[in-house]
Amino acid sequence: MSAADARERFATATLRHLGAPLADGVELRHVSAADWHATIDPLWTGTLDRPGHDLSPLFSPEQAAASRDLDAIIGDRLEHRLLLVAGGETIGGYWGQQETFGRYYMTVSMFRPEWRGRGLYKALLARVTAAVADAGFRELYSRHRADNNAILVPKLRAGWVIAAFEITPRWGLTVHLRRYLVDAIALVHEHRVDGARVEELRARGLRLP
Ligand SMILES: CC(C)(COP(=O)(O)OP(=O)(O)OC[C@H]1O[C@@H](n2cnc3c(N)ncnc32)[C@H](O)[C@@H]1OP(=O)(O)O)[C@@H](O)C(=O)NCCC(=O)NCCS
Repeated sequence: MSAADARERFATATLRHLGAPLADGVELRHVSAADWHATIDPLWTGTLDRPGHDLSPLFSPEQAAASRDLDAIIGDRLEHRLLLVAGGETIGGYWGQQETFGRYYMTVSMFRPEWRGRGLYKALLARVTAAVADAGFRELYSRHRADNNAILVPKLRAGWVIAAFEITPRWGLTVHLRRYLVDAIALVHEHRVDGARVEELRARGLRLP
């Protein structure tokens, strides 16, 4: 197993699960990060009813440059940069990326208001989850404003669980969600909430007091 194997596995899983149209007439178009931001950033900020704070004026140019240099050391992560296109028009976008420890971060999902409530996100979530699982990740992660039911509800219905709360400078109070792809780890999550699942976890080899 090597980094090249991981890239190959990711590419194959992406093609298998995120290659075909999302729904009748809704194409998934894979683009570069630059093209994605050029298309989605204006859509995103233009359609959110309560956008997050733009923190960029609070950093000095030196602080911003230092941060970019540090990011450059990490280099290019594996990621999905998707435009959702219907009738030649971009109706939404999705960005998800690799993190460390086998974690995949669903960073941004958005549809134009007139395309919401048609089941497109539900379909996208299932396809992304399948691609991420096939690529070998252990879990998916995301964080959302605590009252963003439109994203929390479909994820909780799809087996995601609440992992944390965080006050973020950009969005305020957020909920962190996880979708475990290793079923024993999902059991450990339950165990950590209230001590459940002890016998099953012992039987699977977890050493518990
Ligand atoms: C969040 C978002 C991507 C959801 O997309 P969508 O295509 O409208 O969602 P779907 O139509 O697939 O709905 C999926 C499920 O969630 C439910 N749902 C959708 N909006 C909801 C709401 N406001 N409250 C409660 N449930 C809701 C639907 O009923 C559906 O469940 P069902 O199939 O059991 O009926 C979309 O609302 C959006 O673009 N919001 C603005 C951007 C944003 O906030 N993104 C999330 C942060 S990254």
